[in-house]
Amino acid sequence: MAKRMLTFEFVALVVVLAVVFVDGRRGGDEERGMCAVVVNGTGYPCKEYTVETQDGFLLGLQRISHGIERRGDGTKRMPVLLQHGLLQGGDNWVLNLPGQSLGFILADEGFDVWIANGRGTRWSHGHKTYSKHDREYWDWTWDELAEYDLPAMLEFVMTTTGSKVFYVGHSQGTIMGLASFSQPVVTDMLAAAALLSPITYLDHISSNFINAAAHHYIDRMVKTMGVREFNLRNEVGVKLMDYVCQREDVDCGNLLAAITGPNCCFNGTRIPYYLQFEPHSTSLKNLAHLAQMIRRGTFAKYDYGILGNLQHYLSLSPPDYDLTIIPESLPLWMASGGNDALADPVDVIRTIEQLRSTPEVIVLPEYGHIDFVLSIQAKEDLYDSMIAFFRAHADRCVLGPAQVTRVPELSSF
Ligand SMILES: *[C@@H]1O[C@H](CO)[C@@H](O)[C@H](O)[C@H]1NC(C)=O
Ligand SMILES: *[C@@H]1O[C@H](CO)[C@@H](O)[C@H](O)[C@H]1NC(C)=O
Repeated sequence: MAKRMLTFEFVALVVVLAVVFVDGRRGGDEERGMCAVVVNGTGYPCKEYTVETQDGFLLGLQRISHGIERRGDGTKRMPVLLQHGLLQGGDNWVLNLPGQSLGFILADEGFDVWIANGRGTRWSHGHKTYSKHDREYWDWTWDELAEYDLPAMLEFVMTTTGSKVFYVGHSQGTIMGLASFSQPVVTDMLAAAALLSPITYLDHISSNFINAAAHHYIDRMVKTMGVREFNLRNEVGVKLMDYVCQREDVDCGNLLAAITGPNCCFNGTRIPYYLQFEPHSTSLKNLAHLAQMIRRGTFAKYDYGILGNLQHYLSLSPPDYDLTIIPESLPLWMASGGNDALADPVDVIRTIEQLRSTPEVIVLPEYGHIDFVLSIQAKEDLYDSMIAFFRAHADRCVLGPAQVTRVPELSSF
């Protein structure tokens, strides 16, 4: 017990130091986007864009339009949109060395790489009307990420490039994907999708940390604290860790492993660098939604309780997302990990069984949840196979006639 607390205190100290470090540099960084802060110095081109969602959020989108080696070879590059997971940001695709990070690898392989950043993360740009101090700014869950953020970014990439888009989602990025792929307006913009750590059902989660939080604490926190920001570094996050790590059945000695499962293939000396950017913020309401999935075993919209559901959905319970609506013609590729404490293999199989199509699936027995973005051998383990899958579906990038007329500058591209 004493040893466990000691290591936990060490982890907490590292996190606190990281906060001080990051906060000390804010101000300058708030205007400087991810290209300037993370990608600058690598030699890759990087350009910042802002995309407005229908509900007024201003999302940050970065574009790495080509690699270092194959600069200016004139061929049209297929666009791919990378969508990060919970408590992460677009930086997670470019945090490792060039030959290890998916964002750089895809650019070197001839893709036009677009990096998505969800609302509330450091690389997004706030809201048209609300500031991060307003309740409304944090009043959303992944329902809104699927309904507003993903379609807005896909449409922006499609109209800018004049091509249908490949999608890569990790973790919550796969929840957003699978929830929104039931809308034809979304699948019409997609060429194919690759899902890392695919999640729709969460009832076999093996992380004691997450289970304790989901079953005992998160709803209580939402009740007492209301709709607001959640970050592992702010007081809400520290309070949650305090509660959960006191439990006998939760070992917080290695906090990341306690939350995500043990990761096999990290570069340990690089962790202080990751902590300059990660973890990012989400909303407490979003955590409450994920906790509902864990408790109820459903893939459904946010549960407001009977009265709230009547008001929001005109039904007593929240509507389910129906995986059988995802068109069979949309090519899907998935990778899941044997040590992934969040995308449990049992839940992944349940997801696959409900789909009408048969996705290509890679299973990596050693992989934990975060290995899919930060493993130093991910290229050999899975990215090469993903790239082959995209190339095999290159013909699907061609736009339909109705879409071509929506592309403003196709001829000048
Ligand atoms: C990139 O870094 C160099 C020096 O390290 C600096 O001169 C340049 O302004 C930076 N570019 C951006 C876009 O911040
Ligand atoms: C691990 O990270 C360190 C620090 O950034 C770097 O110098 C080293 O080359 C990395 N090693 C591998 C195998 O990626």
